[in-house]
Amino acid sequence: MNISIFGLGYVGVVTAGCLASRGHSIIGVDVNETKVRMMNDGLSPIIEKEIPELLEEYTKKGNIRATVDTRDAILNSELSIICVGTPSRPNGCLDTSFLENVCFQIGQSLKERAERHVLVFRSTMIPGTMRDVIIPAIEDASGKKHNEGFFAAFNPEFLRESTAVYDFNNPPKTVVGADSQETAQKVMSLYEGLPGAKIITKIEVAEMVKYVDNNFHALKITFANEIGMLCKNAGMDSHEVMDIFMQDRKLNISTAYLKPGFAFGGSCLPKDLRAISCFARMHDVDTPLLSSIMNSNWMQITNAVRKIISYGKRKIGVAGFSFKEGTDDLRESPLVELIEMLIGKGYDLKLYDRNVYLARLMGANKEYINEKIPHISTLMVDSLDDLLSDREVIIIGNKDPEFSRILTDAREDQQIFDLVRIGDVSDAAGNYEGVSW
Ligand SMILES: NC(=O)c1ccc[n+]([C@@H]2O[C@H](COP(=O)([O-])OP(=O)(O)OC[C@H]3O[C@@H](n4cnc5c(N)ncnc54)[C@H](O)[C@@H]3O)[C@@H](O)[C@H]2O)c1
Repeated sequence: MNISIFGLGYVGVVTAGCLASRGHSIIGVDVNETKVRMMNDGLSPIIEKEIPELLEEYTKKGNIRATVDTRDAILNSELSIICVGTPSRPNGCLDTSFLENVCFQIGQSLKERAERHVLVFRSTMIPGTMRDVIIPAIEDASGKKHNEGFFAAFNPEFLRESTAVYDFNNPPKTVVGADSQETAQKVMSLYEGLPGAKIITKIEVAEMVKYVDNNFHALKITFANEIGMLCKNAGMDSHEVMDIFMQDRKLNISTAYLKPGFAFGGSCLPKDLRAISCFARMHDVDTPLLSSIMNSNWMQITNAVRKIISYGKRKIGVAGFSFKEGTDDLRESPLVELIEMLIGKGYDLKLYDRNVYLARLMGANKEYINEKIPHISTLMVDSLDDLLSDREVIIIGNKDPEFSRILTDAREDQQIFDLVRIGDVSDAAGNYEGVSW
C-alpha cells in the first residue's frame, strides 16, 4: 500500500521503518526540513534500536522517501498515518495545535484527491478530540464529508521507546476505532500476521484506551515505589516482597478488581489500608497514593447518595447490602454506609438480602445485626418481590444471582440504580442506570 506518515518523530519514524519492512511504500512528511533531509539520506532522525538499519535498507530500495510537501504525500498515497506531537499546555490540558495544523494541510490537499483516502490518527488524544476537533477541521479544510469523501480512524500506539521496533512487531494488542467495519479492516490490514488481540471499537473508546493504559502504568510504578520506600525504611528488601506479590496471578497480576463498580468494603481492605498508612507514618515515609485510596473510596459512596437524591423519589429498596454476594458479613460494608446516609435524610427504605436475613434469624452475625445495626435490621424484608411491589427506586447492591431478575421484572415507572452491573443490561426494564457505566 502507498502510505504517507505525518510527523517524523519517535512514533512516525518507527512506523515508517516497520511498515516499509512489511512491504509498504512510505512517504514521510514533516515540517522540519532537517528530519526530512536525514530520512531521504537514509539516516535516522531519532535514536532507536534497529531503526538506522531499517531506514538505510528501505530508503536505498526506494520504499521510503520524505517530503515537507503535504500535497505530494496526500496525492500519492491511499492512507495517511498521523503521528504529530500532542504535548501538554501549561494548564495540563492537551495541546492540539499541531494536530489542527496538520488537519488543515491534509484537508486542503484532499480537495484535489478524487480517490478515497483513509486518515489514521496515532497521536494520543483525549476522547472526543477526533469527533469534535479533528474530523470537523478536515471537513472544513477539504469541503468533503467524513465517511463519504474521506474516512478517519483512531489507532492508538503502544510502543515503548528503546524497544519500539520489537514492540511494533509484538504489540500487546491492536486497537482500531472507526465508524465503519470497512475503514477499520483497512487499518487492521496494516498489522496482518502480528500477534496480540485485534480489537475494532468506537473511535472514542479507542481514544480512551490509550489513557487507561498509560495511567495504569503510572499507577503501577507509583504503587511499587511507595511499597519500595516503605520496605526500605522498615528494613525489608522491596524486590523480594514484590517478587512474591507478582507470583500471585490469581488476584494480583490478573484481571481481578478491574471492572468499575461501587466502593470496596469488608473486614479487610479498609482496615489494612489504614494499618499500612499508620505503618508508613511510624517509619516517616510519605505514601500519598496509598493514603488517598480511602478518600477516593468514600467519594464513591457520597456520589451514589447524590445520584439517589437526584431521582427525587422517597421509597427506596436496596437489594443486597452485605459487602459482596454470598456472604452475610456487614463489617464496613459500603452499602451499610449508604443506607445510613439515606436513613439520616429521612428516606423510606426497605432492605432485602437473603444472606443477611438468614443470619439475623440464626447465623453467627445475629448479634451484630441485632445489636450494632438495629436501625437497619428493622428495615429488612424477606423477599425480592416485596421490594419490586412498591419501591420507586431499586438499588442493586451486590451480585447475588437472584438480583438479575430485577432487570426484567421492574416496572416501567421504577428506577433501577445498579452498583454492580448485575448482568446484560442492554435491554433492562424500567429506568436503568449504572453507577459508572
Ligand atoms: N514517543 C512515544 O513513545 C509514544 C508512544 C505512544 C504514543 N505517542 C504519541 O504519539 C504522538 C507523537 O509522539 P512522538 O514522540 O513521535 O512526537 P515527536 O515530538 O517526537 O514528533 C512529532 C513530529 O511531528 C512533526 N510535526 C509537527 N507538526 C507537523 C505538521 N503539520 N506536519 C508534519 N509534521 C509535523 C514535528 O516536527 C515532529 O517531528 C504523540 O501524541 C504521543 O503522545 C508517543
